[in-house]
Amino acid sequence: MSGQVLETPLTRLVGVRHPVVQTGMGWVAGPRLVTAVANAGGLGILASATMTLDQLTAAVREVKERTDAPFGVNLRADASDAGDRIDLLIKEQVKVASFALAPKPDLIAKLKDAGVVVIPSVGARRHAEKVAAWGADAVLVQGGEGGGHTGAVATTLLLPQVVDAVDIPVIAAGGFFDGRGLAAALAYGAAGVAMGTRFLLTADSAVPEEVKRVYLGTTETVVTRQVDGMPHRVLRSDLVDALERSGRVSGTVRALRNAAAFKKISGMSWRAMLADGRAMKHGKDLSWSQVLMAGNTPMLLKAAMVDGRPDLGVMASGQVVAVLDDLPGCAELIDAIVAQAAGRIAAQHAYLTRATTPR
Ligand SMILES: Cc1cc2nc3c(=O)[nH]c(=O)nc-3n(C[C@H](O)[C@H](O)[C@H](O)COP(=O)(O)O)c2cc1C
Repeated sequence: MSGQVLETPLTRLVGVRHPVVQTGMGWVAGPRLVTAVANAGGLGILASATMTLDQLTAAVREVKERTDAPFGVNLRADASDAGDRIDLLIKEQVKVASFALAPKPDLIAKLKDAGVVVIPSVGARRHAEKVAAWGADAVLVQGGEGGGHTGAVATTLLLPQVVDAVDIPVIAAGGFFDGRGLAAALAYGAAGVAMGTRFLLTADSAVPEEVKRVYLGTTETVVTRQVDGMPHRVLRSDLVDALERSGRVSGTVRALRNAAAFKKISGMSWRAMLADGRAMKHGKDLSWSQVLMAGNTPMLLKAAMVDGRPDLGVMASGQVVAVLDDLPGCAELIDAIVAQAAGRIAAQHAYLTRATTPR
């Protein structure tokens, strides 16, 4: 682990060594990746939306067996069993609860009372203001270049807006991969960076090798609504091009098929899926046809990330994929990022001090 230390409000809040977060990516952020990040001094976050409650329980215990370092779990606040998942985090003393969709103030208060740090993800300034007012401990803000569900505003514009709007620590996400990015984010006033695509492309991620090779060989991403109705940044592929061309009827048939498949592997009843759909519709203001498409995301991601079929699945990815050409280990990656950031900050300081000192 690097001797270099950049202490920030994030490292102090969570008790990690480095201000670097690995985000909760569905099917990708499992115990192996999270443990590698935690042991490297970063904050690893387990993705739980694609796990049953039992699978999540097993994953949390596995990480705890393999590391003493803090880690987090990403949750959907609108899931029908969100209450059970929150009780699990509290019981297992998980350090961080990360949310893809803002949890209500009572849930935030319950977690905080139990000593769990609450960090919702947001894609807009007003959402950051809302979760800060509701008592969130920190906020993760993802700019439009980020992978998966994403907004339209670039990190360089969203981050300063959010930093100015809230007085809790802000974690910057969307487009980060090296120490220059970390130094820049800190200069904007962020307390650290979070990365998805960069951690997917490490030796420690369990994504099949052939799928990692597709990522490394692709430079283009597209934002499509054809997966689940919401803007989703994915690798451009023949499948995505075909989805973009496909009509409404074939989209509905595909959505129904994927909903049935997700029901089977998740063990959820139609009633629970409908309740989830209703909560999602309410929380995100979606039409029923968009809700129906929600089952597409986990199934199409799984085809690539678990089954190793890039031809049959979608591969969520940030634009950053265009500049990545290796598969480092997490320890090596985090050490290099922190060392480069510290070097950049020191060099800038020396340069600016020299430039402003009268001869
Ligand atoms: C393969 C993949 C799966 C993702 N799945 C989720 C998810 O299940 N929940 C979530 O909140 N964000 C998810 N995201 C978004 C990431 O957590 C993160 O915010 C994003 O990747 C940051 O941008 P970057 O890729 O430029 O680092 C996913 C991203 C990728 C690349």
